[in-house]
Amino acid sequence: MSSIPYLKNDNGQTTLMVDDGPFLILGGEFHNSSGSDLQYLEEHVWPGLRRLGGNCYLTPVYWECMEPEQGRYDFTLVDGVISQARKEGVRLVLLWFGLWKNGASQYIPEWMKKDTDYFYMRGVDGRKVESVSPFCQKAVEADAAAFTVLMRHLREYDVEHTVIMVQVENETGIWGHPRDYCEKAQKAFTSEIPCEMSELYGVSGTWEEAFGQDACEYFMAWALSKAVGEIASEGKKEYDLPLFMNCVAIGLPLRAGQLPSGGPLPRVHKIWRKFAPDIALYGPDIYSPFYKEVSSEFSEANALIVPELSQDKNSASKALYTVAAFNTVCFSPFGIDGMMNGISENDLLAQTNSDLTEKVEKNGLMLAEAYRILHILWNEIREAQQQGNIYAFLQQTEPGTEFVMDDYILNVTFGDGGVRGHLGQPGHRNPDSPAGGGFVIRRDRDTFLVCGIACNVQISPAQGSTDQIFVLRKTEMECGEKELIPRRILNGDERNFTAIGAWPSIQEITFYRR
Ligand code: DGJ
Repeated sequence: MSSIPYLKNDNGQTTLMVDDGPFLILGGEFHNSSGSDLQYLEEHVWPGLRRLGGNCYLTPVYWECMEPEQGRYDFTLVDGVISQARKEGVRLVLLWFGLWKNGASQYIPEWMKKDTDYFYMRGVDGRKVESVSPFCQKAVEADAAAFTVLMRHLREYDVEHTVIMVQVENETGIWGHPRDYCEKAQKAFTSEIPCEMSELYGVSGTWEEAFGQDACEYFMAWALSKAVGEIASEGKKEYDLPLFMNCVAIGLPLRAGQLPSGGPLPRVHKIWRKFAPDIALYGPDIYSPFYKEVSSEFSEANALIVPELSQDKNSASKALYTVAAFNTVCFSPFGIDGMMNGISENDLLAQTNSDLTEKVEKNGLMLAEAYRILHILWNEIREAQQQGNIYAFLQQTEPGTEFVMDDYILNVTFGDGGVRGHLGQPGHRNPDSPAGGGFVIRRDRDTFLVCGIACNVQISPAQGSTDQIFVLRKTEMECGEKELIPRRILNGDERNFTAIGAWPSIQEITFYRR
């Protein structure tokens, strides 16, 4: 019997271990409601996902369905999705939609919704926000009890470890208000800060005296992290699976009230780590155009887990970039079931399935190809990361980028036309083109593996290099079942420019010196 999935830390690299081997989650997150109907999953979700070839999917566990009456638990949906995943040969990450989902309490059971003892947060205007207050200890205990039962059930039922991680709550933080203003919150906010906060930051006084303009956000981070910390620790006592949290991350200097206040952004991780020590990783949900800034900020805080990002024509480029640039544990575009069935998130919201279908499906297939490549190259990528021999790129608004590697210079311009132009002009970018993205691995002194989408990659001798360097061999590579297969030999016109169109492509280039 293999060990329970766990996170291993080695040489500064964090690895999710599943069945005692390293595991990189390449999958996607289901739309919010897909997991509430097992037949829907069978008919509309798994068939599309078979074409994606992900190895793990993120799906919610809805508290309202799991505990329809207080103290009576129903695991039909949980067990159902686990057995479907087993049949499909994939793993699952479960998302505990408990007290908070996107800052609101939409998924609490009906009995709790109707009982005012479980009191809600209040906004700055004194009106109720549809979200249970973290100061409502009775609600926190009810969530902790349900989460504990879920984790116990997983330990007993899921002996094959189909479920490999659990997300606790979903995008916590209060939306639209700097903090909770309910009676209990008011009392706490105007009192002396707790001694743990005092010790953590070396300050004292009330929240405002101690933290000034950060007071509301720190206050919410403290209140929420204590609540989630209690829920997580009760669950983890039952079953020691890795736990993580997601959070809204935009990459702009927004303050409490403009962002879900108190959610686990890196600037309040110190608080979250103190009060919720059982949460191993904090991951960003990246729908913002500042993908690189956000992913890089979170990757400095802990290994990178991206439980949600937009599913669109750029998802495949982001997958190649993310896995190559960071110590990534999970890459998972949101609404993956829609992507593979030609339904975009906007279609779903508008309840139409428009002529976008074909494009959306193409995006899904492009992502599938990126996943195939990453499954094959992941070990090599990790080694190259350890040795500093990998260069990852992703287009946001810039025309290109450059890396210097001793006596070589790597020049990337973005554009899908494949027409960089023999004059070395930046490539065209038609409106349907994906963002350029990918990576280059320096396999040995003179051999490079180029993998990318919509970009033009040129490797040339750096200025001042003493050797004269020429191309010895350039080969197009195809993704086989388990390894790359050499195909066309690229010479002549194709040798001079490594122009990659709007589809993932791999080429190996070896130079010689004389
Ligand atoms: C972020 C949430 O975490 C998801 O559950 C989902 O609601 C998406 N937003 C929709 O874009």
